[in-house]
Amino acid sequence: PVTAVILVAAGSGQRLGYGMPKAAVPLGGEPILLHALRGIVAAGVASQVCVALPEGETGLRQLIEDFRLELADGGPLLTTVDGGATRADSVRSALAALEDGTEAVLVHDAARALAPESVFHRVAQALANGASAVIPVIPVVDTVKTVAATDGSDSDIAPEIVTGTVSRQELRSVQTPQGFSVDTLKAAHEAALAFDEDRAAAVTDDAMLVELLGVPVHAVRGAIQSLKITTPLDLIIAEGLLEGPLG
Ligand code: CTP
Ligand code: MG
Repeated sequence: PVTAVILVAAGSGQRLGYGMPKAAVPLGGEPILLHALRGIVAAGVASQVCVALPEGETGLRQLIEDFRLELADGGPLLTTVDGGATRADSVRSALAALEDGTEAVLVHDAARALAPESVFHRVAQALANGASAVIPVIPVVDTVKTVAATDGSDSDIAPEIVTGTVSRQELRSVQTPQGFSVDTLKAAHEAALAFDEDRAAAVTDDAMLVELLGVPVHAVRGAIQSLKITTPLDLIIAEGLLEGPLG
């Protein structure tokens, strides 16, 4: 299928705390966005890459212009859109800007700048094999419990009470790139436009919107290198990946 990649890079990077958009933060001396773009182009799955950038960020726009010059003939069409207030808004803006005739789309977080080519290939292959939605996943390493607020008396001992332990066997941590047929993802994001503010704030990936449509979401193997650079610790790990045997 004719495939596009939407790269969402319009976040502000509050938790990383660099006082600049996360996409501009240096990793191994180069902006996170540049690592993400190189990974997508190297995977070779897309005829278009549409990047959602923070509105008014001229530095990142210049980076895109420079990277476009680096692209060899036959490389993907590289376009940009202004991102929105939420990640889902940024995805919607980019979806509206895909070339006519685009059949499949991979939505990828710029923050997962070191996602290996192999993951792009597994996701794209599942789409080619007929899936309408596919996500990369890895096992959960921690034991995961549910908790509730305690009543007044219990709160003297601890702030929360455990209400259960989830079977780790059936849990997965979810990454990007997430792949979809364009029609499926557009329908999912249109449905989400009706969400109230609380519900919209609880949207953390694209696949959950597709699940609400009742469309099966397939899972393929992700990679630990695809970690989302969220906190300063993640940036240290990513720096290590660039240098180490896993990089
Ligand atoms: N993103 C986006 N538009 C938004 C919010 C997030 O394009 N309005 C993108 C980010 O740029 C990132 C990905 O979605 O690549 C995952 O978001 P997250 O890791 O939360 O990044 P930030 O929102 O930038 O970080 P923070 O939440 O710490 O501010
Ligand atoms: Mg965020």
